[in-house]
Amino acid sequence: MKRYELRCIACGHLNPFSLRRVFCERCGGLLEVVVRVDEVFDRERLQGRVMSMWRYAELLPDFGKPVSMGEGMTRLVRCERLAKAVGVKELYVKLEGMNPTGSFKDRGISVGVTVALEAGARRVICASTGNTSASLAAYAARAGIECVVLIPKGRIASGKLFQARLFGATICEVSGSFDDALRIVLDRAEQLGAHVLNSVNPWRLEGQKTAAFEIWEQLNGSLELNVVVPVGNAGNIAAIWKGFEELRDHGLTDAVPRMIGVQSSGAAPLARMFSTGSEEPVWVESPQTVASAIRIGRPVNWMRAVRAVRSSDGWIYSVDDEEILEAMRLMATTEGIAAEPAGAAPIALLKKGAEEGFLARDEVYVCIATGHHLKDPDPALVSWNAPIPFEEYLRRTLGPEPARRREEPPG
Ligand code: F0G
Repeated sequence: MKRYELRCIACGHLNPFSLRRVFCERCGGLLEVVVRVDEVFDRERLQGRVMSMWRYAELLPDFGKPVSMGEGMTRLVRCERLAKAVGVKELYVKLEGMNPTGSFKDRGISVGVTVALEAGARRVICASTGNTSASLAAYAARAGIECVVLIPKGRIASGKLFQARLFGATICEVSGSFDDALRIVLDRAEQLGAHVLNSVNPWRLEGQKTAAFEIWEQLNGSLELNVVVPVGNAGNIAAIWKGFEELRDHGLTDAVPRMIGVQSSGAAPLARMFSTGSEEPVWVESPQTVASAIRIGRPVNWMRAVRAVRSSDGWIYSVDDEEILEAMRLMATTEGIAAEPAGAAPIALLKKGAEEGFLARDEVYVCIATGHHLKDPDPALVSWNAPIPFEEYLRRTLGPEPARRREEPPG
């Protein structure tokens, strides 16, 4: 038997169960799902189950048939050459770009759309820096319901816009930032009768917590490590932490990882909160960064993210755009692994932290590469490697070619 409660993350109030509720009835704070179960999986029991995040069924919502495309169970790749290049003992990269639409969002959207259908929704809506819109468009198409996405005009990566168009969402451009688009979505959703699928939706985070279960299973239960996550609207880092907490609460692990967040220095309200010792985020009015996925100045989930990071003895740092581009290059050229800029930010942080001494070199790190590199095929991201004529390659490799001697005619 499974029971769910909706606890307010601000005041702790237990709200009456609802598939639609997003805000606390008492204080307006955001909610988290508390799943109460008698029995959960263990590693042996998982053998032979479906190779998607739905293998962890005991701890996932069980309303109706999942709207699923095999999301989750993404590869966790050990990277020895990259570990050496950034200067840490042991490093794994979780390739979230392997999800059906190329980002970790598919985990949350799969659960979120399943729950929305159960709640009777015929229309779903989100604001997005790109990946959520691509994911929601695809899952709504699969569920046969209408999808509306609001994006900051001219500021999302071309691959993501292509996906949202391809999957048939209605795409509305908003002048301003992601934060403006999200405000509009929250203002208008009810009037439109649309179910909000941003990470304010507590069921979405239930899907995203499965990345923690996978890391635990893929590393055979050993969780003495650091998990490094790019932070934008700040839902994912909190969701992954929730997954680790649930493993601990169910006696499946004693150790839990330290959660380390990374933002881009031009969009770093939480990193600045940590570095200045402020009690609240240092809001950023016009966030700027090459990592468009995390170009967010007012992360709505800041409270749960800060709580996750503090409970795990972690921290939130920032890296700048050059460091992110260098991390993309290092990942790609040392391991053949790539990510869009936001997904490379954790590697940028490891390199900086190991060099400057604020991250321990002799620990184990799992970096979450949150989005596929083909999402953002902007040539400016690989300015370091332009194509050359083959003749130039020959010259570089073989040296200057001796002048060809004219063949003497035979005889
Ligand atoms: N990495 C990528 C590739 C993302 O797309 C996002 C968020 C994040 C990291 C940050 O995750 O918001 O949970 O802290 N993208 C959202 C979107 C905002 O609309 O696609 P977060």
